[in-house]
Amino acid sequence: MTPKETSEEVTVRQARPEDAPVCGEICYNAFTSISQSHGFPGDVPSPEVAIGLLTTMFSHPGFYCVVAETGGRIVGSNCLDERAIVAGLGPITIDPQAQNRGIGRKLMRAVMDRASQRGAAGVRLVQAAFHNRSLSLYASLGFDIREPLSCMQGRTAQRKVPGCQVRPAQTSDLEACNALSREVHGFDRGKDLAETVEQATALVVERGGRITGYASALAFWGHATAETNLDLQALIASADSFSGPGILVPSRNNLLFRWCLANGLRVVQPMTLMTLGLYNEPAGAWLPAILF
Ligand SMILES: CC(C)(COP(=O)(O)OP(=O)(O)OC[C@H]1O[C@@H](n2cnc3c(N)ncnc32)[C@H](O)[C@@H]1OP(=O)(O)O)[C@@H](O)C(=O)NCCC(=O)NCCS
Repeated sequence: MTPKETSEEVTVRQARPEDAPVCGEICYNAFTSISQSHGFPGDVPSPEVAIGLLTTMFSHPGFYCVVAETGGRIVGSNCLDERAIVAGLGPITIDPQAQNRGIGRKLMRAVMDRASQRGAAGVRLVQAAFHNRSLSLYASLGFDIREPLSCMQGRTAQRKVPGCQVRPAQTSDLEACNALSREVHGFDRGKDLAETVEQATALVVERGGRITGYASALAFWGHATAETNLDLQALIASADSFSGPGILVPSRNNLLFRWCLANGLRVVQPMTLMTLGLYNEPAGAWLPAILF
């Protein structure tokens, strides 16, 4: 059977929470095998973590998730975060035995069609820079390469930035954080941020009595937005470590990247922010999350 013949038998449907155990196993195996074959640590530490993540995403009303089936068997899944006017894509994973046969392309198209039907201003994703296949697939589907990212882990030697106070974010901070996001990115991520305030991972930084930056979490899955690098440095310096593989530092922000290096953070792996549709150069300092 040729790859194209195989891909014709594949059907795509919306994911259900009960699909998460199978999809989580596939997600763990797909990330682990591609990372190991390039000598990088895996993005997901265990099948249980992947199952937990996909159970949450498949049940969340703010996410649209799909699975691909062939011969009555699930062979992959993909998710779209629809909580902001710009959608975030991922994780997309295909069973290693079924890769390179057009199934990934089908699952990409399914969520891209959904985003355009819903009038999303754009779709963004973060890609493992060493992965030739995902890079080529996304670029051929129209995603532009926007930013090289360095996934970084560790604990900064400098623990505080003079003049900046970091504290847990509260619901009453949401308006100021969302206004800041609109100034820097042109849109806000208020739903995402409100959830992380509830989960107690969100932080704000204050300088001169004003909120000048926030992080939904200092983690692989958290984003941060700030007026200046100084504000972002204060947020980064407040963390003892970053959950997951690390935070995603835009490598072209040379001042911030060198400050992270001088402070002892280590690069875990290079990644790439890719975007489809609306994109404007952010007017401030920022860290994307693994979805965008
Ligand atoms: C990335 C992934 C989702 C892609 O799914 P897939 O089903 O293997 O991909 P497809 O077969 O649909 O498409 C791959 C495309 O890349 C092309 N391709 C593969 N290697 C390539 C290379 N080195 N150079 C150029 N093109 C390449 C293929 O020809 C194909 O394009 P085509 O449809 O025009 O022929 C899947 O491989 C996977 O799960 N990988 C591990 C987990 C992962 O990295 N997920 C992505 C996180 S960012």
